[in-house]
This record gives sequence, structure tokens and C-alpha cells, in this order.
Amino acid sequence: MTNRMTRRAFCGSMAGTVGLATLPVRAAGPQTLTARVATAQIAPPQYAATEVWTYDGAVPGPVLRVPQGGRVSRRLVNELPVPTSIHWHGIRIDNAMDGVAGLTQEAVPPGGTFDYDFAVPDAGTYWYHAHSNSFEQVARGLSGALIVEEADAPEVDRDEVLVLDDWLLNPEDAQFMTPFGHPMSLSHGGRTGNLLGTNGTYDLASGVKANERLRLRLINASNARIFVLRLAGLEGWTVALDGMPLPEPQPVEAELILAPAQRIDLIVDVTAEEGETAALLRFDDDDQWQPQARFPVAGQASATRRDTPAALPPNPRMEVPGIDSARRLDMVMEGGAMGRMSGAMMNGRNMGFREMAGQGQFWALSGQVGMTDTPFASLDRGETVRLRLTNDTAFPHAMHLHGMHFRQVAGDGTLGPMRDTILSYPDELLEIAFVADNPGKWLFHCHMLGHAASGMTTWINVS
Ligand code: C2O
Ligand code: CU
Repeated sequence: MTNRMTRRAFCGSMAGTVGLATLPVRAAGPQTLTARVATAQIAPPQYAATEVWTYDGAVPGPVLRVPQGGRVSRRLVNELPVPTSIHWHGIRIDNAMDGVAGLTQEAVPPGGTFDYDFAVPDAGTYWYHAHSNSFEQVARGLSGALIVEEADAPEVDRDEVLVLDDWLLNPEDAQFMTPFGHPMSLSHGGRTGNLLGTNGTYDLASGVKANERLRLRLINASNARIFVLRLAGLEGWTVALDGMPLPEPQPVEAELILAPAQRIDLIVDVTAEEGETAALLRFDDDDQWQPQARFPVAGQASATRRDTPAALPPNPRMEVPGIDSARRLDMVMEGGAMGRMSGAMMNGRNMGFREMAGQGQFWALSGQVGMTDTPFASLDRGETVRLRLTNDTAFPHAMHLHGMHFRQVAGDGTLGPMRDTILSYPDELLEIAFVADNPGKWLFHCHMLGHAASGMTTWINVS
């Protein structure tokens, strides 16, 4: 309030003294998000800067914050040499704004623009990323955090967004290794990086105070890496998954698994003492715990720890009723290296696995390789659906549904937390349930982005 008053007074006096006509006039256009090439020092300082693709020149892109129930209004300006589009991951969005090139919009050509304008019904931690050739564009840096704020936010000293990522760089020149869709990574676990980091740097350090309470918003923006995480010198609770509040804060006792595209909101207290360094640790490729983000402790926020936080306020439409009478669907994930698949339908005809592989395709969902003209399922608006997912491959997959969140159905019929991306392990049977309450054409795909590009993408229609 005070700031605004002061600012108004300042502007008023300027206008009075200088005269409006002499002030530079800036057309009141829409807020933009410009996709463009830039360089960033992702690697340690002894390496060169990396040429990256960015939103507004930064990797990750700017943190967008909006109040729950408000709108995101951004004009995508494409200054990249290739067509692109933006997907707002996890937002239960108006279908026309979902950003899927070829399904909900045409990709925006170089030099073109597209106006995204949509309501955000749910508070929580979401993210945005390119959805045209995602396996390359996201790997080059086109992603950022989208935070939707609760009107009644929990009391914390600080709110920190941590975008976890990895980059596959050539150690000689610190530039991205190409091709992005190497058959070896497509047919195996996907493209994983040789440099890991947070918020665009390999060694994120953020100073904290003893007993300070932080809200950490973890986002996995990597192409294919499953982060296995642990807290050190921090103690706390998981309060939300994929944006959606848990009914009760869950104490963090074990490791946290963060699959590609998933988010975890934590509320943690700094239990490390002054002079120590608290950290978010990851289990590394060399079987060691390494800091993913460091929190050096200086000073004290308070002499004692606080009480357990309250649960976050629930979002609307979080129930999944009618499980027993739900429509049932089955999906089998097949293919990949070391898989059993002999062939599948591609572009309307049956193809052997070798022929598929020759065209850079390695995976299928229920016998279909990639997108089809007709949806995997046509759902009636408002109906409850149970989808069984069988992983008949040798790899884990992070399956993501656009436009709606789902809950896992446990063997005994109880429902798990609401999510938009679920990690499926080989030979594991999963079942998810959701209310098809958002009309439109929605993708369902693996968020190991190379898998999505080589067969593991389908769609459903809700009308
Ligand atoms: Cu985050 Cu279809 O993706
Ligand atoms: Cu996959």
C-alpha cells in the first residue's frame, strides 16, 4: 500500500514538472514471454558458457506467480529459429490454451506470436515448457516455474522455487551434445545429462538462518532423470504433490522420488546450526549422495522450532467419486530396448519392431505407435474413469495426463494423492482414476521426453 502510494505520488509529480508529452510513451501491450537464443553459465566457471534456448533470456525461464483464481496472460513471442509452443503443465486449463502443437494449436513459427490467456483454478506449484519437439526444446532450456498462490498461504519465512534439471554437454566446449534424439537414448532410459543442477546452475547455494522455515517447491524439469532426494540439516513435511495439497502434511522420513515433470512442495525447518550447511541431497550416478542445492546457515531465525504446519487449503474439485461404477480402460506400455514387443501399428499399418526402429520409433501404447487420428478413448464429460497401466517394458516411465489430475487406485480400492504425473516401474501394474470434467483433446504421454517422441504419446477426447 505504502509503495503504491509513493509511486503514484512520484508519477504525479513527474507529470506535473516535466509534462506528459515529453515522457517516453510505452504502448500498453500484453505481457510477453520471448523464446530466444541466449548464453548461460550452466557449467562450472572453468568451462565456456552454453548456448541455450530460453524464455526471456534465462534458464530456467522467469518464475511466473499468479493468485489462485486469477489469470495468466502472456504473449509468446517466438524469436527462435524453429516453431514452438508453450504447455502449462498441471494447470486444469481451457483446452485451447494447452499449448500442444498439432493438437490444440499450430506451432508458432519463427517471428510469430501466440496469446496465452487462461484462468488458474488451482493453487500450487506448476511449470511451463515447450511442447513442440519437446525432447530437444526442453533439453535446450525452454522451461520455467508457474506458481499459483493460495489466498491463505502457510506461514513460512521464505518461499523457494527449485527447478531441478540436468544437461548433456560436450565436456570439450560445454555445448549441448547432439543429436537430442539419439536412438540409444530414445530406446533406453531417455536423455540424461552429465551435469546436474538447480535453477540453471550446477551449484546452487542459498543462505538460510537456523530454525528458519522454508517452503521448497521442487520441480523436475529434466528430460528423463528420476531424482532420488534426501534432506540434510532440514526437517519437514511434504504438503503437496504435483501442485495438489495433501490432506495432512506428511513428515519427510524417507527418500523423495521426483520423476520427470513431477513436483513436490515441502515445508522444512532449518535444523542445521549456524556455520553448518543444510542441503537437498541427490543420489548420484556414482552411488553417492551429493548436494543438489546447498543452504549455508548464518544467523538464527528463532531459538526454537515451530509447530507442525497446517495442511494447505484444498483446491476445488479434488474428489474422484463413483470408482465402483467407473468406465474401465486398459493401457499396455510396450517396446524399447530389451523389451518383448515384436511390432505395433504405426501410421495405420502393422510394422515390425526393426522397421519401427529404422524410423526412430521404439515404443507403443496398447499396440499403437504415437498419435492417431482417433483418440485412445472418447469420454463423456463428467464421467469417472479408471485406467489400468501395465508396464511391459524394461524401463520406468513417468506418465502424464494433460488437463485433469488423477488419483492412484490402490489394490484395496483406496485412492492415493492427486497427481498429474505418475511413475510406473517395469512389470508393475498401476491403476489411476479421474473425473473427465475438462472438455477437449488431452494428451496422455510419457514425460521421458525422448520416449514421448518415439511412440509413447496418445490422447483422449472429453466431450
Ligand atoms: Cu509437461 Cu505433455 O507435458
Ligand atoms: Cu517412458
